[in-house]
Amino acid sequence: QNNDLDTTDRLHAICKLLQESIDYYDWVGFYFKNGDKEELKLRTYVGEETDHKIIPFGKGICGQVALSNENFVVPDVQAQDNYIACSINVKSEIVVPLFKNGENIGQIDIDSETPDPFTEKDERFLEFINQEVAKIL
Ligand code: SME
Repeated sequence: QNNDLDTTDRLHAICKLLQESIDYYDWVGFYFKNGDKEELKLRTYVGEETDHKIIPFGKGICGQVALSNENFVVPDVQAQDNYIACSINVKSEIVVPLFKNGENIGQIDIDSETPDPFTEKDERFLEFINQEVAKIL
């Protein structure tokens, strides 16, 4: 796809805007299904560098959302047993699946250094963001 770079640039700009606008959004990234593989691949992000650029379906919060098709709000990451730690500073996380033509093709993942900051407002807001993002994919 020859507009691939453009789309990634746009996604990066969205990550940056979200991270700069909402004080408890510390790490913001988009993962997408990696071709035909049963895994997620990190497309773009802002925040601390992470080693977790590929996540198998089922693994961690992200991997679970790839299979459940449902939002996953984690008020306290330390209380999760199927969790992949990216940074010791992270206290909480929200992952919202991204649907294109009804199919779960990826997700927005947000880590926070604030304990338990995410509400239903964040869920509705990020669902809206993902709907808008789906239009440019
Ligand atoms: N914590 C995630 C891994 C991705 S990082 O947050 C960037 C998880 O458990 O799936």
